[in-house]
Amino acid sequence: MKPLIVANWKMNPVTIKEAEELFNSVKHGVKDIESAETVICPPFIYLPLLKGLTLGAQDSYWEEKGAYTGEVSIAMLKEMGCKYVIIGHSERRKYFNETDEIVNRKVKTALDAGLIPIVCIGETEEEREMDKTEGVLEEEIKQGLDKVDVSKIVIAYEPIWAIGTGNPCDVEEAQRMKEIIQKMVLKNIRLLYGGSVKANNAEGYLKQAGFNGLLVGGASLDAKEFVEILNNS
Ligand code: PGA
Repeated sequence: MKPLIVANWKMNPVTIKEAEELFNSVKHGVKDIESAETVICPPFIYLPLLKGLTLGAQDSYWEEKGAYTGEVSIAMLKEMGCKYVIIGHSERRKYFNETDEIVNRKVKTALDAGLIPIVCIGETEEEREMDKTEGVLEEEIKQGLDKVDVSKIVIAYEPIWAIGTGNPCDVEEAQRMKEIIQKMVLKNIRLLYGGSVKANNAEGYLKQAGFNGLLVGGASLDAKEFVEILNNS
């Protein structure tokens, strides 16, 4: 199976001009790449502009429609051509109080609608220092994936201390965490690494640590760097 390289643009870019520049260079750079499956997760409003690429959403709501001001449903994302949806990103958990119970509802809704959830799990620096990493992951898995067919989902291991910090997890340590997660969930679960991935470290997570793909934040906003990550995958 080809590695799955997911670009999480988060709340970027801001202007239409910047957005168009990024779309064009990404579209151009991605079109000839056969070695990886590339998924672009832009802010919702840009989804229709990126038709032709494999798309994912950064979040979704579990109700199909109705009086839920500000929310976007899985049915809408499906209509926009999304194949994947990121669920439970640490920024959703931290800034929007998403719990494992919410994650669980969203994962089930996505699967019922035929979208592939990319479920993010990971520990904070403090939890790691207090030797709580495995307990935290176990809890996120137990509750977030309760009664979920795990063979149909993707998990992204994203140590929170490595996200956006320029301080990626060592490849050996990431590999150790990968094996722990596989034991907790399923040996052949599709597992991504995320957290300060750049062109110069991408290969280590895939080829050395054996992850099935990458979730890339900051570096995916630089089309040249992102295409280099794809070329190194
Ligand atoms: P980063 O973000 O690559 O900027 O560390 C990863 C993520 O949040 O998914």
